Amino acid sequence: MVASRIAVLGRGAVSAGEPVLRGDDLGVLRGDGLFETMHLRDGQPWLRDAHLARLARAAAAVELALPPRAVLVGLLDAVRAGWPADVEGALRLVCTRGPEGGGPPTVYATLAEVPAASRRARATGITVATLPLGVPAASRVELDWLPAGIKSTSYAVSTAARRWAQRAGVDDVLWISSDGYALEGPTANLVWLAGDTLCTVPAATTGILPGTTANWLLGHAGDLGLTAAERMVTPSELRDADGLWFSSSVRGLAEVTALDGEARPRSAHTAALQKLLGFPVPADADRP
Ligand SMILES: Cc1ncc(COP(=O)(O)O)c(C=O)c1O
Repeated sequence: MVASRIAVLGRGAVSAGEPVLRGDDLGVLRGDGLFETMHLRDGQPWLRDAHLARLARAAAAVELALPPRAVLVGLLDAVRAGWPADVEGALRLVCTRGPEGGGPPTVYATLAEVPAASRRARATGITVATLPLGVPAASRVELDWLPAGIKSTSYAVSTAARRWAQRAGVDDVLWISSDGYALEGPTANLVWLAGDTLCTVPAATTGILPGTTANWLLGHAGDLGLTAAERMVTPSELRDADGLWFSSSVRGLAEVTALDGEARPRSAHTAALQKLLGFPVPADADRP
């Protein structure tokens, strides 16, 4: 097990137990901050530029003054320096609004091994239950005061959903809008195959997080002879999908093996999609 690390803006790498935040940091008090989590593979942050671009868009949307991009890159370089190339990492960049009453944003990076459960899910797949989100699919983007599709540190809704999943005995949940559309999971996008078309839910019209993993995957669907499309979809349409997955930066691509208690046949496309994405898949678990 490789020890976790932290690097702090202006201080560089600090030992993992070192205090980093002030008690009055607005990230803690109000969840007023942004973050990105990247997959560290071969020692390099995969899709780093896409993550930094999403962070910059979110910072503009919530009027949070980020340090210059080169400074953020330097912080990521500091935390990953010397990390063993053969160990997958989850590399997180956090930017909060800083201390209450004013002050510069608090900016730091953390790096830890990818959890075993995330790696395992690539091979075993995950069971998922639908969960109502209580709002129509388009409602969040229709509110011009509400920044949508940002990776905010306000994750109370997500963690509540995750606790519900635990109580319900499933691995994850799929949020459903009040008008009946599948949206996303608390930490993942939905990807499905309809015939030869690899699909995901549009972020621009729903306010879900525009996922870097799903975006990259759909952008490369042609490599597998597939076309790609953003579509709205209902849970009953998903039942007939030719493949169903959750995608995210750390877990990679996890096949949904049961939806609302109904077992799904394993997709013949899972292995090729995972190979395309380049996330290592543990060899010892079930394969379709
Ligand atoms: C709500 C939500 N949707 C989707 C994703 C997947 O995004 P990405 O592929 O960029 O990790 C995440 C990642 O944590 C998320 O929190």
